[in-house]
Amino acid sequence: MANRYEEAFERSLKDPEGFWGEAAEACFWYKKWDKVLDDSNKPFYRWFVGGETNTAYNALDYHIENGRGDQLALIYDSPVTNTIQKYTYTELRDEVAKFAGALADQGVVKGDRVIIYMPMIPQAAIAMLGCARIGAIHSVVFGGFAAKELATRINDAKPKVMVSASCGIEVQRVIKYKPLLDKAIELSDYKPEKCIIFQRPMEEAALTPGRDLDWNEAVAAAKPADCVPVAATDPLYILYTSGTTGQPKGVVRDNGGHIVALKWTMKAVYDVDPGEVFWAASDVGWVVGHSYIVYAPLFAGCTTILFEGKPVGTPDAGVFWRVISEHNVKSMFTAPTAFRAIKREDSKGEFIKKYDLSNFKILFLAGERSDPDTIQWSERNLKVPVIDHWWQTETGWAICANCMGLHHFPVKYGSPTKSVPGWDVRVVNESNKELKRGEIGALVVKLPLPPGSLPTLWQNDDRFIESYLEEFPGYYKTADAGYIDEDDYVYVMSRTDDIINVAGHRLSTGAMEEVLSDHQDVAECAVLGVEDQLKGQVPVGFIVLKSGIDRPQEEIVKEVIAMVRDRIGPVAAFKTATVVNRLPKTRSGKILRGTIQKIADNKEYSTPATIDDPAILDEMAEALNKIGLGKSRK
Ligand code: COA
Ligand code: AMP
Repeated sequence: MANRYEEAFERSLKDPEGFWGEAAEACFWYKKWDKVLDDSNKPFYRWFVGGETNTAYNALDYHIENGRGDQLALIYDSPVTNTIQKYTYTELRDEVAKFAGALADQGVVKGDRVIIYMPMIPQAAIAMLGCARIGAIHSVVFGGFAAKELATRINDAKPKVMVSASCGIEVQRVIKYKPLLDKAIELSDYKPEKCIIFQRPMEEAALTPGRDLDWNEAVAAAKPADCVPVAATDPLYILYTSGTTGQPKGVVRDNGGHIVALKWTMKAVYDVDPGEVFWAASDVGWVVGHSYIVYAPLFAGCTTILFEGKPVGTPDAGVFWRVISEHNVKSMFTAPTAFRAIKREDSKGEFIKKYDLSNFKILFLAGERSDPDTIQWSERNLKVPVIDHWWQTETGWAICANCMGLHHFPVKYGSPTKSVPGWDVRVVNESNKELKRGEIGALVVKLPLPPGSLPTLWQNDDRFIESYLEEFPGYYKTADAGYIDEDDYVYVMSRTDDIINVAGHRLSTGAMEEVLSDHQDVAECAVLGVEDQLKGQVPVGFIVLKSGIDRPQEEIVKEVIAMVRDRIGPVAAFKTATVVNRLPKTRSGKILRGTIQKIADNKEYSTPATIDDPAILDEMAEALNKIGLGKSRK
C-alpha cells in the first residue's frame, strides 16, 4: 500500500488542480479563484487565477480571528544586543498595521515597490508584512551587500520608499547601514522619494531632511492601515539573486500560490503544527528568511524566531542549543556551514549537554550540499533526524526533501531524499533526453512548476524564458547537476553555471570577474570557487596583468580584494587572489575553470584534449601552491 507521501506525490502530478485546490481551502480568500491553474499562456503558468487574498491577513489577522491572538507569533532573540522581545499575534498585527499606515502616508499604494535593507531585527519582518498588508511589493536586500549592489536593485525595482536601520551588528562590530544606503542612492539613477530609518541605540544615523523619516515618528503619526485585497497573481515580493552576470535576477513571488504552498509545507515537509515553535536560523535577506522566518510559520499559526547572531561567537558554540531550549523549538532549519562552524569549536558537543533539548524533534539543512560528516555529527550529538533538503531562491520552497509530516524515509547520506509533492524532477542530457537511473545530467523539473515558485523575473519575461525554460523545452532548468537512483532518491552534485555557494550564500563568480576586470592593471582574470572546510566554497581570483605593469603584485592583489568588498560586499568573502602569467585555455580561448578548480582542490585531473598549451597546468599548480591550495592544501 502506498504511504502518505506516495499518495500525495502521485496526486500532485496527476491532478495538480485537485491537490492544490484542496490545500488552498485552508487559506483565507476574499474571493475564491476561478481556476486553480491557468495554462492558457504557456510557458507562463498562473495559480489561483481570479482569486483575491492578502498575505498579511493570512499571516496574522486570520489567526487572531481564529483564537490565536494571545499566542506568540514572533520571538526576537538577539545575543549581540542581549535582547529577547516577544510579540503575540495581536501585537505583531498591530505593529504591522501601524507601519503599513506609515507607508501609506508616504503615498505607497498597491503595486508600488519598497526596498528593505535591514539587519535581523523585528522591524525587518514588520516592514515586509506592512508592505504585504497594503499590496506593496517588497524587495529585501541582504545587509552584507555593498552600496553598489543595493544601487543595482534600486535601479531595477524603482522603489517609492526605502526602509532601513541605522546599523547592523556583526558579532561585536557595529556596521553602519545609513552611509551604505546614502551611497547606494547616490550611485543609482533612480531616486526613491523617501527613506524610513529605524534608529538603533548603538548608532544614531543622521537623517537627510526632506527625504528621511524616523521610523518611530512615522509610525506614531500614522493610522493603522487595513489589509488591501490583492489578486492571487499579484506580486508579493521581488528577491534578487545571483545570475551569471553582475546584473542579478529579480525573482518574483506571487501572493496566492505562495500562501497555499508555504502553509502546506509546514506540516507536510517540516511536521510542525499550529502553536508549535519553528526556527530558521538564516537572514531575512535570503529566500530561507522570507519563506521560513517570516511567511510560512505565520501562515501556519506557529511561533517563529528571528535570531540576530551567529552560530559561534555570540557568545559561544552553545547559542543554538540555548535558543532551542529557551524557546521550546520543535524544528529548526539552517545551512550546514553553521553546523560546521559549531563542530569546529565544540567537536565533542559539550555545549549540547548543557541544555534540555527534549522538545527538539528535527533538524533541517539546506542552502548547500550537506556533507555526510556534518549530518552524522549532528545525528550523533542531537539524537534527532537530520534532514537535508534542496531548494533555490527561484523555487521558494523545497524541491526535494524527506517530507517528515507525510512519511519518514531512511536517510541516504548525500541525498536530499525525494521530490516533494508538486515537483516532477527529471535528469536530462544536453539533447533534453531523459537519462537512466544513476546517470548524471542536468536536474530539471517538468512544467508546470507548483504554486509558490517563480512565475517570472521582475519585468523581464524574456530573461525568465532564456534563463530557465529555453535550454530544456518543457522543463525548468535548475542549473544543478545530479542524478536519481533506483529508489527515487535525488542527488544534487554541483551547479552547471558559475554560481558558487559560500557559507550557504549564493554568489556569482562572473560578477566578481566583472569587478576584477575593472582594475586598471588587469588584462584578464578568472574567479572560481574552491573547497573550504567551513564555508563549503570560497572564491579565489587569478589575474593576468597588462604588459609593462611593474607595480608590486601584492599591492594589486590587495586592491582587487578591496574592490570586490567595496562593490559586491563582505558577504562575497573574497580574500584570496594571485597574479599568474597566463590562464589555461582551450584552443578556442575558453578558460579551463574546471581544471583549475580540480588542481586547487588537490583532486585528480586529466589534461583536457582541447588545451592550448599543456605546460601551463604546471604553472597553475605552482601558483596555487604558493597560496596554500593544490598540493600545499592543509
Ligand atoms: N551585514 C553586514 N555584514 C555582514 C552581514 C550583514 N548582514 N552578514 C555577513 N556580513 C559580513 C561578515 O561580517 C563577514 O565580514 P568579514 O569578512 O569582515 O569577517 C562577511 O560578511 C562574511 O560573512 P559570513 O559568510 O557570515 O561569514 P562569517 O565568517 O562571519 O561566519 C558562519 C561564518 C558559517 C558562522 C556564517 O556564515 C553562518 O552562520 N552561516 C549560516 C548560513 C546562513 O545563514 N545561510 C543562509 C541560507 S540558509
Ligand atoms: P539559493 O538560491 O541561494 O537558495 O541557492 C540555491 C542553490 O544552492 C541550489 O541551486 C544548489 O546549488 C544549492 N543548494 C541548496 N540546497 C542544497 C542542497 N540541499 N543540496 C545541494 N545543493 C543545494
